[in-house]
Amino acid sequence: MTNKKLWGGRFTAPTDQFVEVFTASVDFDRRLYRHDIEGSVAHANMLAKTGVLNKNECKVITQGLQEILEEIEQDTFDWRVDREDVHMNIEARLIELIGDVGKKLHTGRSRNDQIATDLRLYLRDGVDAVGSGINGLISTLIDLAEKQVETVMPGFTHLQTAQPVTFGHHMMAWVEMLFRDHERFHDCRKRINVLPLGAAALAGTTFPIDRNYTAELLGFDRPAANSLDAVSDRDFVIEFVSAAATLMMHLSRFSEELVLWSSAQFNFVEITDAYCTGSSIMPQKKNPDVPELVRGKTGRVYGHLMSLLTLMKAQPLAYNKDNQEDKEPVFDVLDTALDCLHAYTGMMAGLQVNAAVMLEAAGKGFSTATDLADYLVGKGLPFRDAHEVVGKLVHEGIQQKIDLADMSLAQLKSGSEIIEKDVFDVLSLQGSVSARNHLGGTAPKQVAAAIKNARKRVKKI
Ligand code: ARG
Repeated sequence: MTNKKLWGGRFTAPTDQFVEVFTASVDFDRRLYRHDIEGSVAHANMLAKTGVLNKNECKVITQGLQEILEEIEQDTFDWRVDREDVHMNIEARLIELIGDVGKKLHTGRSRNDQIATDLRLYLRDGVDAVGSGINGLISTLIDLAEKQVETVMPGFTHLQTAQPVTFGHHMMAWVEMLFRDHERFHDCRKRINVLPLGAAALAGTTFPIDRNYTAELLGFDRPAANSLDAVSDRDFVIEFVSAAATLMMHLSRFSEELVLWSSAQFNFVEITDAYCTGSSIMPQKKNPDVPELVRGKTGRVYGHLMSLLTLMKAQPLAYNKDNQEDKEPVFDVLDTALDCLHAYTGMMAGLQVNAAVMLEAAGKGFSTATDLADYLVGKGLPFRDAHEVVGKLVHEGIQQKIDLADMSLAQLKSGSEIIEKDVFDVLSLQGSVSARNHLGGTAPKQVAAAIKNARKRVKKI
């Protein structure tokens, strides 16, 4: 038989050529090579510590693995589909390079605990990369918010003008969402950072092993407590993807706002040319492709979450080949999340804010109606009555196409005699936002405090 398999002993016929390709995963799992080698080096060192390998064997093996790492990084490594996956490509090459000693590396180990280990090492780095991506975007948004602490814009509910807010406050709402995302990734890292090695195929191994030592070498918090669970658990993948789906949901919501805001109808913001594209037919167009694409990519991340939940839903213990199907979704989720964070950070750093347009928009749509009602309450009217009075004035305003702040005192007084000249302070947009001066409110003072606080928090994550 040519291309003899590492597991070929009990076989008499070669693998069907289609099945060989069908069952292989090397085309996608080769991206785990660094973590696979890292895991193997730790495993070899542990075996040397317990006396399963002698010192020299361990040295030859780890040197061979180092050489393979260089081959892969220099792109001279010959990845072979007949060697099925990343593990057997590396192991077979090791045996080619160092001979029979290489055959001892797999002692007390199985590809089942090996792949679970590789994926955990890989995703641990993935979480850290996503974490710094989120951190970068948070910092960019804080910078933007800081420049727009005083900028008044209409705040919306039901996408109808509700009450004036500041643009800085709006940006800081996004920052809060991202802080929660960071926390979710950080939390799932705890459950990623557990060592499967030692579980072997499913039941453990007869060799003397020291799992605490391997865990220590690889920076894991502890060895997994149950060998069956260790090889079959993919909860950590699902948790990671679920945190990513929530992150994408947030980015998609931001995107929706940016797409609206950058339209000619809103014109609240302008996305720089570098982050937009044109139309091949309509010369006037400048399309907000980045937010649109991020909104679109949210769909594929949700889809991967569903794939993974479904992949696991009916699996009996312990390892099943089904699990090979977890790689492509999770890799794509990581790539997508990192790309979207990167694109967003650059785009938001260059975002132009049309403060005058937003101010004008905030002045329309009776956005200070609640302030007028609160004013009447301050003068002794019960809130329900105040609501009624203002409702009637708004109705008049709509008929006459005039906003509350532009009405004369006499006209306002026709609503209620207790209205006096000082009403114009509360009807002004600046007065409205400044009056919401409490923790979490939109008053510029509070937004400045929130920014200060967020700067401290972002340093700690
Ligand atoms: N390529 C496999 C995976 O991704 C590695 C583990 C294979 N184990 C096995 N017994 N076939 O899950």
